[in-house]
Amino acid sequence: MTTLLAALATANDAAPDVGEDHAQILEGLGARQKWISPKYFYDERGSELFDQICRLPEYYPTRTELTLMDRHLAEIASLVGPRAAVIEFGAGSNLKVRKLLNHLERPAAYVPVEISADYLVKQAEELARDYPNVHVQPVFADFTEPFELPSHPVMPARNLIFFPGSTIGNFTRPQAAELLAVMRHEARAGGALLIGVDLRKNPATLHAAYNDNQGVTAAFNLNVLRRLNRELGADFVLEHFRHEAIYDQGEGRIEMRLVSTRPQTISLAGQQIAFAQEEHIITEYSHKYSIEEFVALAEGAGFDAGKTWVDEDSLFSIHFMTAR
Ligand code: AVJ
Repeated sequence: MTTLLAALATANDAAPDVGEDHAQILEGLGARQKWISPKYFYDERGSELFDQICRLPEYYPTRTELTLMDRHLAEIASLVGPRAAVIEFGAGSNLKVRKLLNHLERPAAYVPVEISADYLVKQAEELARDYPNVHVQPVFADFTEPFELPSHPVMPARNLIFFPGSTIGNFTRPQAAELLAVMRHEARAGGALLIGVDLRKNPATLHAAYNDNQGVTAAFNLNVLRRLNRELGADFVLEHFRHEAIYDQGEGRIEMRLVSTRPQTISLAGQQIAFAQEEHIITEYSHKYSIEEFVALAEGAGFDAGKTWVDEDSLFSIHFMTAR
């Protein structure tokens, strides 16, 4: 945890890149089922590609969640009440937290929790400028582990954990249960949770959302290899891999993969990594929930069911729950 000023001072060198994390990348690429964590997607180019994904006609989650927020924020604000401290897990799209802060009654504080310093500082600066009455205090932490909360000049009436975008989908169900338990801990007694969760649906709709016609999702997926080339001196040839996203209905998840189109050996940080033809790296899971399933998962982590909002096509859900 650190102050905004300290954050500004360390903005550039504190940003973890794949170089500092290369043990995890080597572990993943050395495993029998090769994997790379989806957190490495978001370098500058990856973040731009993700913004493009969010505007694709096939990618319904972002626009559906924004529509739900526009429709229901007045009600959400009345459920949250005055003087909340908003604790966002991950510093995601500025737009969503702005919508929330615009509707809440006299929000006391905004605490984005994020490991990547660049992103965190930029967002915190902009929000601090535009919301002078909200105490903006970023926390540099891996939010999958309990972290220390900052104190604020105005004592918040309650903590509101904010986790939009269905980022919870990146975690397996057992991991999601653990993360919800961390959220319950950080919410404290009397706190609440506002979370966006993508829903199970017709596999064709899901398939289209992760295999768009323009190939933006493919470029986003392949970009992680470009990043490993740049930051770890790897020698992936992007043309020798192809994007694949399959929906596993039993697991209720999209699996994003990079498939080797030929037998090949890559060198990375002094290691040789062999690929058989058609062998794949798993780069991301995106889990989908039914409403009942998600509410039960959060209840198991110590939240009480509150209210759920869903669009007319049952594509996406937003849940408000209170800490038991
Ligand atoms: C940011 C994890 C919610 O799973 O839909 C979009 C990321 N990957 N297209 C998702 C993503 C491919 C996205 N999340």
